[in-house]
Amino acid sequence: MRALIRETDISNSRLIAPLFLIDHPTNAREIGSLPGQFQLGEEPLYREIESSLNLGIKSFVLFPAVVESLKNTEATYSYSKENFYLKRIAGIKQRFPETLLISDVAYDPYSSDGHDGYVKDGKILNDESLPVLCKMALAQAQAGIDMIGPSDMMDGRVGAIRSALDKDGYSEVSIMAYTAKYASAFYGPFRDALDSAPKFGDKKIYQMDPANALEALREAALDEAEGADILMVKPALSYLDIIYQIKQFSTLPIAAYNVSGEYAMIKAAAQKGWLDEEKVMKEVLLSIRRAGADMILTYFAKDFARLSHG
Ligand code: PBG
Repeated sequence: MRALIRETDISNSRLIAPLFLIDHPTNAREIGSLPGQFQLGEEPLYREIESSLNLGIKSFVLFPAVVESLKNTEATYSYSKENFYLKRIAGIKQRFPETLLISDVAYDPYSSDGHDGYVKDGKILNDESLPVLCKMALAQAQAGIDMIGPSDMMDGRVGAIRSALDKDGYSEVSIMAYTAKYASAFYGPFRDALDSAPKFGDKKIYQMDPANALEALREAALDEAEGADILMVKPALSYLDIIYQIKQFSTLPIAAYNVSGEYAMIKAAAQKGWLDEEKVMKEVLLSIRRAGADMILTYFAKDFARLSHG
């Protein structure tokens, strides 16, 4: 009876696994603050994708960890032909055409300033960042990406990227907008993983104030008008009300990003024997779905898939 009247389910097809990529043929390094998550060189990356596919996880969001010497203010490595991230996108698509790959489009992995946009005289400039974000998106489209993930909170980026893609014949490449991305302390472990913490100041001038909800709806309206295919809320757990509100507000599919700090807290408590990891993971993922997320980006993707397999 309980199963028959259940209102919400999670299935592997709703989960998207984030992966961290490094420019190395064979290395895999575990990330200290994200137990079970690795910086993956080329071979381990393909192995990780293969084992995820075998468990029923087909969607991945890819983040590059770039060495400091290749970073600069203009983030030029992001669209360079030499960029290993672009080669990996092509490599995955060639080996595993059944995957759905979502990219990261932002300055921060490539910026010597560690910010998501172009920095001049100590200021992060919104409009001046858009041309490089478009170049990045086009280079990724050329490499074979399925969906662009502009992960900053710059204004106008969805529209700019959409028209750049359409103009160059990539109208089939879709966009997952980071619609409501809050200036959150829950991103800490992610910044460790990529060594992408801002070199000065913080990200508050372009990420949202956790106190605001109506602003998230304004952002949703803008991203929808600019041509987004999916609207994302990030982080997920402290923002379940935002997921719910955006779901009511828009007919677009909604994604929620169960971020690094949310994963790390559960892993740490479980390691201490203070929480039952499996039960807490299921409860958390279920709550995000119940709030209205159609899909969840989560470091738990494989752990969850393993459970349903065994
Ligand atoms: C930045 C970006 C961040 C995350 C994804 N893309 C963090 C930040 O704003 O510094 C965080 C994801 C996570 O914490 O899991 N472009």
